[in-house]
Amino acid sequence: METIIDAHNITKIYNPDTVPVYAINGVHLHLEEGEFTALVGPSGSGKTTLLNILGGLDRPTTGNVLIGGVDITQLSENELINFRLRNIGFVFQSFNLIPVLTAKENVEFIMLLEKRKRSERAERAGALLKQVGLDDKMDVRPSQLSGGQQQRVAVARALASKPRFILADEPTANLDSKAASNLLDIMAKLNKEENMTFIFSTHDQRVIERARRVITLVDGKIDSDTAAVKVE
Ligand SMILES: Nc1ncnc2c1ncn2[C@@H]1O[C@H](COP(=O)(O)OP(=O)(O)O)[C@@H](O)[C@H]1O
Ligand SMILES: [Mg+2]
Repeated sequence: METIIDAHNITKIYNPDTVPVYAINGVHLHLEEGEFTALVGPSGSGKTTLLNILGGLDRPTTGNVLIGGVDITQLSENELINFRLRNIGFVFQSFNLIPVLTAKENVEFIMLLEKRKRSERAERAGALLKQVGLDDKMDVRPSQLSGGQQQRVAVARALASKPRFILADEPTANLDSKAASNLLDIMAKLNKEENMTFIFSTHDQRVIERARRVITLVDGKIDSDTAAVKVE
């Protein structure tokens, strides 16, 4: 199995010079291709901080994050933006779709940044929206979609650049239980059929039950991990 993420001795201290908050305290983590892993823990345990560091949206105070052998903590801001664009798909709790764009244009947007041809963009966006069951909503704007439908567009968008893995921070937090279960079905299908790696945070027990590996954070430390972790 190919290594997706190797994180060594991650710490994150917010406001180190005023009122320090020790959000992450010495996390080692090894994730492999094809994982369907939940990051769980009480509110304030550091889930969002850790996901943001693993995805290069934030930098750790100490430690290294290797993705496909590249230490992203050593990249410049511009290099990091490019690296994220090509390697990592993101799904957020609040969907974060661009309101003035249609579902299809939202999915195409990343491919536009990647300077892909119009025909390729349109074809791939259409295929991805079909995969998440939204072939009849291509030309609709986010405001006309339910929360569950918007989050499915967000998953299609995350897939658009063919990322190595998808990070999802509480993707079901704003969904009712039926929409949450439907979203998990789609993520699980993409994991099984396309071997797409997913790491998602949640505190919903029904979502936790769907994970194949569960990593529990308490006070910024890994409290338990249902898979054997390689700590070096
Ligand atoms: N930008 C920030 N500045 C200062 N403290 C923060 C910031 N973001 C998060 N924290 C603190 O870091 C800790 C972990 O937060 P977070 O990663 O959001 O946890 P979770 O996602 O598990 O709820 C909490 O104590 C939180 O208050
Ligand atoms: Mg959070």
